[in-house]
Amino acid sequence: MSVEVIKSGGALGAEIRGVDLSRPMSDSTFADIHRAFLDNEIIYFRGQPLSDDDHIRFSRRFGELRRLNLDDVDKRHPEIFIISNIRNDKGDYIGSYDAGIFWHTDGSYLPNPHAASFLRAIEIPVKDGRALGDTVYASMTAAYDALDEGMKRRIDGLRAVHSIKYREEQTNKAGIAKKYNNAMMAAPEATHPVARIHPVTGRKCLWVSQGYTVRILGIPEDESQALIKQLSHYCVEERFQYRHRWQLHDLVLWDNCSTQHRATFDYELPLRRLLHRTVVMNPAAASEEQGSAAARAAM
Ligand code: SIN
Repeated sequence: MSVEVIKSGGALGAEIRGVDLSRPMSDSTFADIHRAFLDNEIIYFRGQPLSDDDHIRFSRRFGELRRLNLDDVDKRHPEIFIISNIRNDKGDYIGSYDAGIFWHTDGSYLPNPHAASFLRAIEIPVKDGRALGDTVYASMTAAYDALDEGMKRRIDGLRAVHSIKYREEQTNKAGIAKKYNNAMMAAPEATHPVARIHPVTGRKCLWVSQGYTVRILGIPEDESQALIKQLSHYCVEERFQYRHRWQLHDLVLWDNCSTQHRATFDYELPLRRLLHRTVVMNPAAASEEQGSAAARAAM
């Protein structure tokens, strides 16, 4: 099997061809895919009608999967997070209906955010022959590299607070009264560098997001707010973007260190959208979670 990498031509993004993800994969094929993932920051496969088990098995090649303690997790597969605008018989959404409303990296309110995310298209809204609900990605390495030297020096060593409560406040302001469960609210904030170093590639990535960054530490509040506004708008400028136009049975993988993303809400019922997502932890988070599971088991 030979892996073909077709680059988007922009700052990030590539399509991978020549692989059937439902079949066992050799280490060398996986190494090619992993390389393409690191080089292109978001990669996608078309025409992969995977089961949840296939999806989980393939994502596990990249690392331990995080089992999310969230309302929108699939009851049969705790590794699967459901994103959907579909409602059940009681009128409740069957998954997260507002995921991606703001630019963000997945799980940035956690001390150890998700390393990578894997999103699979099960139902895609189509109107007049055109798919809706694109996901837009922006390269945080390209954004960092394009900063002027003065700004690079200014943010060097700065740390920022990322907060799920802040995101909740913003969704409330936007009239989307999403309530998060208690487990999420038990760990509502984390502090991270404004420019982080990618653990594998060593490249610098900007890390300030519209959805979650609430303040930058060690500078006056007004300066902190102005800098968050400036950087969070700057880092998602069109020149740093790739726009994914979904097709049924796509699987899209993105690196949560080197990218941010945002969903597009240009569809509504009866047009249905259903995607399943898994997330891979970085190795430090995986051993921390194993440690606390072992501690719980020993109690
Ligand atoms: C997300 O933010 O993870 C979801 C993106 C999407 O639904 O397009």
